[in-house]
Amino acid sequence: MGTKSEGWSGWVLVLVIGVVVIIASYNTLATTIFHFHFFQNSPNHRDGINVDQYANALAIAMQFFDVQKSGKLVKNRMMISWRGDSGLEDGREENLDMSKGLYDAGDLIKFGFPMAFTATILSWAILEYGDHMKKVNELENAKDSLKWITDYLINAHPSPNLLYVQVGDPDLDHKCWERPEQMTERRPVMQVNTSHPGTDVAAETAAAMASASLVFRSTNSKYSRLLLKHSRQLFTFADSYRGSYSMSIPQVEKFYNSSGYGDELLWAAAWLYHATLDHSYLKYVTVEGNFFADWGTPTWFCWDNKLAGTQVFSSSKLSSLFGVSTVCKYDDQVLLSRVNLFGSKDIEGEENIALQLYRKTGEAVICGLLPNSSSSTSHRTQGGLIWVDQWNPLQYSIASAFLALIYSDYMVASNTRNLYCQGELYEAVDLRNFAIIQADYVLGKNPMKMSYLVGYGSKYPEYVHHRGASIPTDAKTGCSDGFKWLNSTKPNPNVALGAVVGGPFLNDTYIDSRNNTQQAEPTTYNTAAFVGLLSGLISTSSHLRSFL
Ligand SMILES: *[C@@H]1O[C@H](CO)[C@@H](O)[C@H](O)[C@H]1NC(C)=O
Ligand SMILES: *[C@@H]1O[C@H](CO)[C@@H](O)[C@H](O)[C@H]1NC(C)=O
Ligand SMILES: *[C@@H]1O[C@H](CO)[C@@H](O)[C@H](O)[C@H]1NC(C)=O
Ligand SMILES: *[C@@H]1O[C@H](CO)[C@@H](O)[C@H](O)[C@H]1NC(C)=O
Ligand SMILES: *[C@@H]1O[C@H](CO)[C@@H](O)[C@H](O)[C@H]1NC(C)=O
Ligand SMILES: *[C@@H]1O[C@H](CO)[C@@H](O)[C@H](O)[C@H]1NC(C)=O
Repeated sequence: MGTKSEGWSGWVLVLVIGVVVIIASYNTLATTIFHFHFFQNSPNHRDGINVDQYANALAIAMQFFDVQKSGKLVKNRMMISWRGDSGLEDGREENLDMSKGLYDAGDLIKFGFPMAFTATILSWAILEYGDHMKKVNELENAKDSLKWITDYLINAHPSPNLLYVQVGDPDLDHKCWERPEQMTERRPVMQVNTSHPGTDVAAETAAAMASASLVFRSTNSKYSRLLLKHSRQLFTFADSYRGSYSMSIPQVEKFYNSSGYGDELLWAAAWLYHATLDHSYLKYVTVEGNFFADWGTPTWFCWDNKLAGTQVFSSSKLSSLFGVSTVCKYDDQVLLSRVNLFGSKDIEGEENIALQLYRKTGEAVICGLLPNSSSSTSHRTQGGLIWVDQWNPLQYSIASAFLALIYSDYMVASNTRNLYCQGELYEAVDLRNFAIIQADYVLGKNPMKMSYLVGYGSKYPEYVHHRGASIPTDAKTGCSDGFKWLNSTKPNPNVALGAVVGGPFLNDTYIDSRNNTQQAEPTTYNTAAFVGLLSGLISTSSHLRSFL
């Protein structure tokens, strides 16, 4: 179980869309980034942590998807010895095969909303940094894990206006402490439909499928087209029948409450635009849907922080916060290259203005992340980690770093020399350095001198809140007597390789206790974003230096 994911993604998407929309062609861009971004790898030698370690960490992180897999497992080199088949009957009551997919966290529920988000982030990571993954033999693993999710999502969408968004009853599940291989409780499926819509979850699923369709386009074009078909249908469903899934299915409220769906609509439309180059999706992002865009001050918008939400919505603040373009200058080249990429005749005035607003918001987000900028956020630990909430804090730090890294590579790819933060000048390498600080913190360069990536380094959490990892494979316990494994004072018998736990308190400390769900529970989306971050930080070759 995890919470607050929606708050983060909602906030982030403004930036993400800005970034995604501005740069039009992934094929062009990915190539360009790959060719250009290595020269700024100056931190290869930063205090003992170097790029090889990012590659080692990536190999570990990638295995968490295998730890979380439901269904009939396929023997491959990633196979986790203590995992077996599970959830084989999932979906059967609706005559569907929903056996695949990933368990969300330390419990045994397949929550569609964060699972789709995990897939979208993983797709994005592959699209940007698949070449890096390939060099260290992780690309196929990443694509396999992504497909394990999208296979599930396809089956969960049996007709245009029907999407199954959950398998398992979390209230029932949380009354048990058992291995997935041994669960016997009924696993109901939950749906959204036209009378009980779920715009947020349907749109996020559309985003996952559109992004994954790009991933599989060259290697499995039939599958890619299938994903795109589902994605388009889901977007139409999401947009035509508007409503939050947590209103339609109140039970999810205490697990993955959605604070709104406008962000997912824009996010999905942005991905669909990339996947189809269909102008109507761009128009949605820039004109029809801009009502949802929340252009404004970058803030840590969480579902429990109405103030922050209000600020973002307050258009009257736009002008004073951003000032006019003397504050956030545009690099002519980016404007030109953007128009160039989009095709100038296609971009209308109104769309252009919207794109600029996205970009301004995105820049302001990044300026807030840079530790030395005058608009730097105070949501940071003394150890330098972005820290927003005591519930799963690392999701914010890692996602911030992933975005900053991507943004820095976009700057390089588009020959954008500078980012202006209230008149101060920053370069791509400053963004990259910020990303490195976050990654290094997670990997052990922190006051606790411990790694928050399970299995990495000599000291990492041993009491991860994770049912499967905490129970010996030969245990005879069932649903309720299994709690003795939660209560056990011994470290987990199985290592949840690649788990990125919730992370430290604001004071940089961590309590390694299995019952400490806020800090000790991992999630698939933590790992997905970390996979993206690590992949971006890998430099496996020096021949690209010739592009200097
Ligand atoms: C629509 O979804 C709701 C919420 O999941 C469910 O209660 C209802 O039975 C569904 N409607 C139909 C016709 O299946
Ligand atoms: C869930 O989100 C909605 C919309 O923001 C909000 O009204 C509701 O209070 C939230 N519920 C919980 C349990 O946080
Ligand atoms: C921030 O500024 C301090 C003091 O000038 C400097 O030592 C440090 O390297 C800077 N940090 C980053 C990430 O640029
Ligand atoms: C686990 O600990 C809780 C709280 O101390 C206790 O109520 C429960 O009976 C224990 N369960 C088992 C199976 O040991
Ligand atoms: C774990 O935490 C839950 C909820 O805070 C509590 O009910 C339970 O007794 C705790 N178990 C142990 C063994 O501390
Ligand atoms: C750190 O913060 C946590 C949570 O606020 C608190 O329980 C703990 O005592 C603090 N530790 C130190 C060393 O200050």
